[in-house]
Order: sequence, then C-alpha cells, then structure tokens
Amino acid sequence: MERTVICKVTDVPVNGLKQFESNGRKVCVINAGDGFFACQAACPHEGIALCDGVFDGEVLTCLEHLWQWSLREGGEPRGLAAAPLEMYPVEVDADMVYLKG
Ligand code: FES
Repeated sequence: MERTVICKVTDVPVNGLKQFESNGRKVCVINAGDGFFACQAACPHEGIALCDGVFDGEVLTCLEHLWQWSLREGGEPRGLAAAPLEMYPVEVDADMVYLKG
C-alpha cells in the first residue's frame, strides 16, 4: 500500500496533537504513547483547528465547544459531538510516521 511521510515520531509529544500538511491535505497527528492517530485537521463543528484541542489518551476534545471523539474507536462521537471524526490510517516505521493509502 502506498504511504506518505507525515512527520517524525519525535515531532509530537505523548498525548500531544500537531497539524501537518501532506499532499495538500491538512492532518492532525496525535501521539497516544502506544501509537499514533491521524484525523481531519479542522473540527467538524465549526472548523477550529483540532491541534488546539486536548487528548487524554483515548478521547480528543475540541476546546471551542467541547465536542469529543474516541480516537481508539475510530473517531466515534462522544458527549456533545454530533458528527464523527474522519480518521486516516497511519503507520510508524523506524522514527517516521506515515499516512497510508
Ligand atoms: S468548533 Fe470544535 S466543538 Fe465547536
């Protein structure tokens, strides 16, 4: 499967979120400590940058209006969230994080 480098594993601290751009697509990369997630960069509510939110090891919270999603359950909405989060498959190889597909 084709893959595109998105960042180094050291670019995002544990439980941190950071926005990157790959092939013209903005992506929010999350370091869960035991792996990485990638999702749409803009909140599906009003488009605020999700990298300004917080991640507690399972749930990503947009701090603008507190919509939440379980990243370990594929971006399923939690609490107030009325829409799922679009997730992108990632792969870690050596010290790099790749977007797959
Ligand atoms: S913009 Fe993210 S919850 Fe409203």
